[in-house]
Amino acid sequence: MRESLPLIGTPSGTHPGGRSAMTCRFRCGDACFHEVPNTSRNEYVGDVIAGALSRRSMMRAAAMVTVATAGASAVTVAGAPEARAVPGSGRGHGGGGARDGARGLRFTPVAPNTRDAVVVPEGYRQRVLIRWGEPILRGAPEFDPENQSAAAQAGQFGYNNDFLALLPVRGERGRWILVANHEYTDEALMFRDYDADAPTREQVEIAWAAHGLATVVVEEDRRGGGLSPVRRHRLNRRLTATSEFRLTGPAAGSALCRTSADPSGEKVLGTLNNCSGGATPWGTTLHGEENFNQYFANGSRETDTRYGIGTGAGARKWERFDERFDVSREPNEPHRFGYVVELDPHDPDSTPRKHTLLGRFKHEGATVRLTGDGRPVVYSGDDERFDYFYKFVGSERMRRGDSRWAREHNMSLLDEGTLYVARLSGDSPEIEIDGSGTLPSDGEFDGDGEWIPLVTASASGAVSHVAGMTAEEVCVFTRLAGDKVGATKMDRPEDIEPSPKTGKVYVALTNNSQRGRTGQAGPDEANPRVGNKHGHVLELTEHRNRADSTRFGWSLFLVAGDPEDPATYFAGFPKDRVSPISCPDNVAFDDHGNLWISTDGNALGGHDGLFGVATRGDRRGELKQFLTVPTGAETCGPIIQDRRVLVAVQHPGEVDGASVENPASSWPDGAGGLVRPAVVVVWREDGRDIGA
Ligand code: FEO
Ligand code: CA
Ligand code: CA
Ligand code: CA
Repeated sequence: MRESLPLIGTPSGTHPGGRSAMTCRFRCGDACFHEVPNTSRNEYVGDVIAGALSRRSMMRAAAMVTVATAGASAVTVAGAPEARAVPGSGRGHGGGGARDGARGLRFTPVAPNTRDAVVVPEGYRQRVLIRWGEPILRGAPEFDPENQSAAAQAGQFGYNNDFLALLPVRGERGRWILVANHEYTDEALMFRDYDADAPTREQVEIAWAAHGLATVVVEEDRRGGGLSPVRRHRLNRRLTATSEFRLTGPAAGSALCRTSADPSGEKVLGTLNNCSGGATPWGTTLHGEENFNQYFANGSRETDTRYGIGTGAGARKWERFDERFDVSREPNEPHRFGYVVELDPHDPDSTPRKHTLLGRFKHEGATVRLTGDGRPVVYSGDDERFDYFYKFVGSERMRRGDSRWAREHNMSLLDEGTLYVARLSGDSPEIEIDGSGTLPSDGEFDGDGEWIPLVTASASGAVSHVAGMTAEEVCVFTRLAGDKVGATKMDRPEDIEPSPKTGKVYVALTNNSQRGRTGQAGPDEANPRVGNKHGHVLELTEHRNRADSTRFGWSLFLVAGDPEDPATYFAGFPKDRVSPISCPDNVAFDDHGNLWISTDGNALGGHDGLFGVATRGDRRGELKQFLTVPTGAETCGPIIQDRRVLVAVQHPGEVDGASVENPASSWPDGAGGLVRPAVVVVWREDGRDIGA
């Protein structure tokens, strides 16, 4: 099939990256349109290199008129799909046929496209596992968007699924607990005739109930690698913006966290903007609270402290219905959000915890590994332009087994240990890092780094390592602590994942339109492109491969974009044999040691997708696109098992000007159906292993 190219390469007009303005407003509170919050004078500030970025790839893309999209099969194409091919799709999108590729990556890559569908490789099938609004708790009604209520939503699957985990159900073969984050709500796509200036109490309470976390038991069915939800299972659970959470760690109970409703400073209602996360080796899940700032109103420059709390009304006007969202009335309430949340999905009566020792910032996620002697190490990125990434090293060892005693011990592992922030330096002369993305003469963007301690907590108390800040202050104003110790300003640190095969750690840096712009930090070897539109992936090697080391080496594994753009790099793999990729976000490993990368905001003009890339051997750097998601959607939460892949299709139809009355997408149910975020499962028609 031959399809014609859209006239210009970017689908959405106003955002500096590839996102729609609607995504900006609802997801991150217009973070990219606000001033960069990091005004600290860490190194590299003010180094401006203008016009150095190559525009060759854009010109080449514009010159392309037709492209082939053979070799990909779309299923559940929603009503009236406008299937268009996009820049970079006419060439080199991942080499030859289904038999080529590293083990686990032997599939025919999906070409970049703009179909309103989930498009998977030839020979693969996919279907929706669960959608927004499906009842999961006893007594919850079927989804009825015209008669939705907060009570109904609190028993149904939430909105905008992001992070996903699958944990085996103890004692029930073939069943898993699917754990999902529900990051945020798109009111204009949820409610008919929604008026952003005058939301009703019911709409606001539905939105509270659509945020948070879900646990749903799913079972393997006989249809290939498919899964189906088990409604009303005793482990199914919803946690929302009004459920009870407990603060733990040094800031819990401190004056900074007390409010008029909670003088203890330990009991918080709700979790907000849960983006990515991780599964722990002790059977729990971690959930990063990301753009929590956007829910609060009437902040002031004095109370903001670098987190971007708005000074006027909130985007969703929640402060009209619960004054804890009004910072002028309840200044400490925002101090109770922005943490890593830990949930025990095996115990439906447990109260989830917010671990203050892991710091307060816009946590993209939190990924856990163990040291050689069994202590937890957690990596977490702060997703904001010019912010930092962090590591926590625990001091207590995990206990094996499923006794109440072991579980209680393990749930406190993240309350004792040390939080560090990363500082990186390059090994090439500064003059060779010219902002264009051209490799320096030693052939790599690479160098050394150190983990700088910020705070240590033990059973006997907590100690700050930052001059002028107490331990509680470091845990609540962690960005300020990072500023003070000279952490390295990165291009929006997203998900971080250690390889289970090699121990190397991969950090997705999604993009940074402001890098090198007037008044902002210039390029450095770890963030080498001015106006970085497409992002990069950093590979970090802990010193002596010890997870608790305070030193590391690093190099850029991928520099994303159209492979024809000379400012891209795929670990040295031939660029005519890789797929174009833009804005890496969530990352996960398969059992072969391949890294899987989902994207958010593809600035090349195609829809977001999921990619696999080899990290080892002579195919290291070979990157192939596995699927694309519908119009307006971001690809989230990938899980790669031997025989199935799960992705969360987040914010489908989120395109500027779209509404319930005027939808931009009709996925997943086709014409006439309301667009609904959903989890999708993909498997091979012949039932064999993915990419084998
Ligand atoms: Fe929710 Fe950093 O993306
Ligand atoms: Ca994300
Ligand atoms: Ca170098
Ligand atoms: Ca993102």
